[in-house]
Amino acid sequence: MRILLTNINQLFQVRDVSESIVSGEAMAVLPALENAYLLIEAGKIRGFGQMSDFSIPSADRQIDCTGRMVLPAFCDSHSHIVFAQPRDQEFVLKIKGASYEAIAAAGGGILNSAEALSQASEADLFSAAKARILSVVAQGTGALEIKSGYGLSVASELKMLRVIQRLKAALPLPIKATFLGAHAIPSRFQGDKTAYMDEVVNEMLPNVAAEGLADYIDIFCERNYFDAGDVSRLLSAGAKYGLRAKVHTNQFSSCGGVQAAIAGNALTVDHLEVLPENDLEALVNSDVIPVALPGCSFFSRLPYTDARSIIAAGKSLALASDFNPGSAPSGNMEFILSLACIQLRLTPEEAINAMTLNGAAAMELQHQVGSISVGKAANLIITEPMDSLAFMAYDFGNSTIWKTLINGQELPS
Ligand code: NIG
Ligand code: FE
Repeated sequence: MRILLTNINQLFQVRDVSESIVSGEAMAVLPALENAYLLIEAGKIRGFGQMSDFSIPSADRQIDCTGRMVLPAFCDSHSHIVFAQPRDQEFVLKIKGASYEAIAAAGGGILNSAEALSQASEADLFSAAKARILSVVAQGTGALEIKSGYGLSVASELKMLRVIQRLKAALPLPIKATFLGAHAIPSRFQGDKTAYMDEVVNEMLPNVAAEGLADYIDIFCERNYFDAGDVSRLLSAGAKYGLRAKVHTNQFSSCGGVQAAIAGNALTVDHLEVLPENDLEALVNSDVIPVALPGCSFFSRLPYTDARSIIAAGKSLALASDFNPGSAPSGNMEFILSLACIQLRLTPEEAINAMTLNGAAAMELQHQVGSISVGKAANLIITEPMDSLAFMAYDFGNSTIWKTLINGQELPS
């Protein structure tokens, strides 16, 4: 099947397939072609160029993109999209003044989601998550990472990861699975974090690895949760199974998580709402990819990650949704784009780089998705007619997306 997109107003993120991540000043550059075409064959990008030097090849289907922009679909490298129930009652408590930490201390928060998940069937979790994924794909997402972490027991963590495995098989977009057993300390281990870490490392992890259920491991490094020592322990345990880490750290405090993640060869460090000078310096002197989650800052009224300092220091940055029922109940990456521009003061070009090419790198999918490159999957956004890419960020809360293609096809929504 050959599909031809013609008369594209501007085709963004056009790169050689060898370009796998952009950092520092290079993030401000988003290579584009004007008045372009793009040819898709067997679900992959086969070629592209300008209409002026184009002798139209035959295609089974042609899509006239007059006035429209085309760019790679968003690569959302951090989500908790498998969950049993929303937490809208906590939302109301927060409006009335309760803090995230106070809600957690009263058995709410992550433990609330774990309780609901323990009661939910694998089939129900699968169909609810599948519906959410189809919805975020319609909103422009074309590659997704999904974490466990609402299980917090051997049986429930495996249940969550099996759901993610079924989602990978059932849906055509690339999905990466992350084992986040060390997300919170379940009530049966209250006061004995070490005993729970023993269960995560000695019981959950070997089972997860034996069934091949995870691509990455993760841990929530924060006061009242897990500390830098736990990060080191988990990352070396994961390394024995060939699993690299994506680490939640510096959401509320700087707790040594950045340094422990780097020492453990983590792929990404995520959140970073709190970023003192020594943590920034450690980031800059490492290969780890920082991931900002402005949807969490927005919804949870936290400081926004200091993306400008990260980029000014010459570092790369990725942006992700953190879609989860507690701190960021939306996977709408177009809204993340607006937040990144408005609150993180990224230019639209920097933000699009952070949520396409760099987002793909944050899932090690940079050779498959994240740019308009020959041979990559045709996971694409075609926008409504518009005059500039900046409009997509500016027009916040509204969708400028006409179609999302996955392997050149629209998914049923
Ligand atoms: O990334 N910070 C820890 N984990 C999630 C929140 C999970 C929840 O509240 O359910 C996050 O924000
Ligand atoms: Fe998260």
